[in-house]
Amino acid sequence: MIGRLQTAVEYASEDTSPWGALKLICGSANRELAELISRELSVPLTDPRVRRFPDGEIDVKIQDSMRGHDVFVVQPTCHPINENLMELFILLDALRRASAGRVTAVIPYYGYARKERKSGPREPITAKLIANFITLAGADRLLLLDLHAEAIEGFFDVPTDQLTSHKILADHIRATTGGDMAVVAPDAGGAKRAESVAKLLQAPLVFVYKRRVADERTEILEMAGEVRGKDCVVVEDIISTGGTAVEVASALKMHGARRVVFAATHAVLTPGAVERLRGAPIDEVVVTNSIPVPVEKLGAPLTVLSVAPLLAEAIIRVHENRSVSELFK
Ligand code: R5P
Repeated sequence: MIGRLQTAVEYASEDTSPWGALKLICGSANRELAELISRELSVPLTDPRVRRFPDGEIDVKIQDSMRGHDVFVVQPTCHPINENLMELFILLDALRRASAGRVTAVIPYYGYARKERKSGPREPITAKLIANFITLAGADRLLLLDLHAEAIEGFFDVPTDQLTSHKILADHIRATTGGDMAVVAPDAGGAKRAESVAKLLQAPLVFVYKRRVADERTEILEMAGEVRGKDCVVVEDIISTGGTAVEVASALKMHGARRVVFAATHAVLTPGAVERLRGAPIDEVVVTNSIPVPVEKLGAPLTVLSVAPLLAEAIIRVHENRSVSELFK
């Protein structure tokens, strides 16, 4: 991958892309990830000046010229979500007005994704509303990672590429888990995700049927598949309150699981979540750095893996107009 990247960076700096030379810019949502991507690409990171007016409004100033460049803006829409979203919209608007050749919004975590359909009358579809705003603000295309629901890609009328961290998670689990494995889907919506990791680990699937009874509490109704004596890998897109993790881990251990490992792309980790995970019968929680994990949350049971090399490779491919899906073949 490194050899390919070096070639690609030379190509980028030669300014031979139809969209101009590659520029990488970040908002304030995950500067550390943007810096890692910048290092992978050997492309300097443009750090715009983001400040507040006295009344709390956001002001953005991009110091370098963006005219005729192929610009990638890294901004996961994580906590504080409304602030980070607004900052993204303003950055996109500034780039459009600065005559950028093309603007790709790199959103490793897509907030409001769990509101992607109406589950009752008079409810919004916020994930679609956000997609409208992102394109309206000036994104020509999107680079996304492990969306909560596939349907969200269809909410955009501009090109999107969706990446997955499943290989990164599976490689870590394969290297650290010795026993007989089973891959667990913690709910019906997660079946495809679990199937993808089960294929990579060549392990059988177990299905759990859960129901959410409160914001922070779920209830296990059924379990289909054999877990006794096995190292169970529960695959999630998001760990938020940790409620699902606690319930599923307890049920798996009760059914005789030897180890329980949670693998999730996005460490949302609301207040109290890490304490909840630490108190649960969970051996390891593997997440990625799509969202910054504050230092006080680091340490057992959390392992944070980097998606920077994956995002960097995808950025180069988009810049060179090469296939992104080939990355996963
Ligand atoms: C829900 O559909 C998601 O896939 C996750 O299961 C959920 O977001 C986890 O939330 P929590 O950690 O709050 O149980």
